[in-house]
Amino acid sequence: MTGTKIFGHRGAKGSYPENTLIGFQKAIDEGVDGLEIDVHMTADGEIVVIHDERLDRTTDGDGYVKDLTLEEIKEYSAGSRFPHFRNYEATWDIEKVPSLQEVLELLTPYDIELNIELKTNRLLYTGIEENVLALVHQYGGDRKVIYSSFHLPTLLRLKALDESVDIALLSREISHPYDYIQTLGLEGLHLDVNTVLSNVHQLKGIFGDLRVWTANESNEIKQLLDLNVNAIITDFPEKAAFYKSER
Ligand code: G3P
Ligand code: CA
Repeated sequence: MTGTKIFGHRGAKGSYPENTLIGFQKAIDEGVDGLEIDVHMTADGEIVVIHDERLDRTTDGDGYVKDLTLEEIKEYSAGSRFPHFRNYEATWDIEKVPSLQEVLELLTPYDIELNIELKTNRLLYTGIEENVLALVHQYGGDRKVIYSSFHLPTLLRLKALDESVDIALLSREISHPYDYIQTLGLEGLHLDVNTVLSNVHQLKGIFGDLRVWTANESNEIKQLLDLNVNAIITDFPEKAAFYKSER
């Protein structure tokens, strides 16, 4: 069997509301080895699991996460915007934007990895690194947590706060990030699938872990399994887990 791990992207984004507790539970039920989640910080310093800086696209609320308290964000549904999914159930309407604490608590019984992407590449959230680490230390148990970001200073801040953290740079290009791995002590790279599959020859001699996002097509998933990358991050974890089980 391949050692490639299957990570559910924002849960099981292709089939269930992204970054919701129900989506995470479904991805776990579909056999993921890990979950990828996105985090932002609220006006009152809480860490919430949502992809965008604003509520508008994925909830029935609006405004910036940074301008709202956790209690205010909890007033909105994080599931009602997804009735087009064939699995849609009315109970999705009561899904809320989860806090990082709630996600860590949901995962407690499961032996899976967690990739926390800190969404710090567009907005500055002073103190987000400290608050994320505090929650993981309090509620994460001994789970393997990988911290990723497009924003290198965020990763270096995490490392400065706790040298034992596993940090991985998100990138769409392959040359300079390799230099970063060597000189800055990153544990890995998270590259997009097109960059990886069009630069396969450059993957040899990679330092650290390589996880690849967002691989949704069957041919992409099969090629990445052949390449034995460390993880495939996908919106369709059930499909990827099936191809993995065939190996
Ligand atoms: O972590 C990989 C991937 O999630 C990065 O892109 O926009 O889906 O967060 P995005
Ligand atoms: Ca992400």
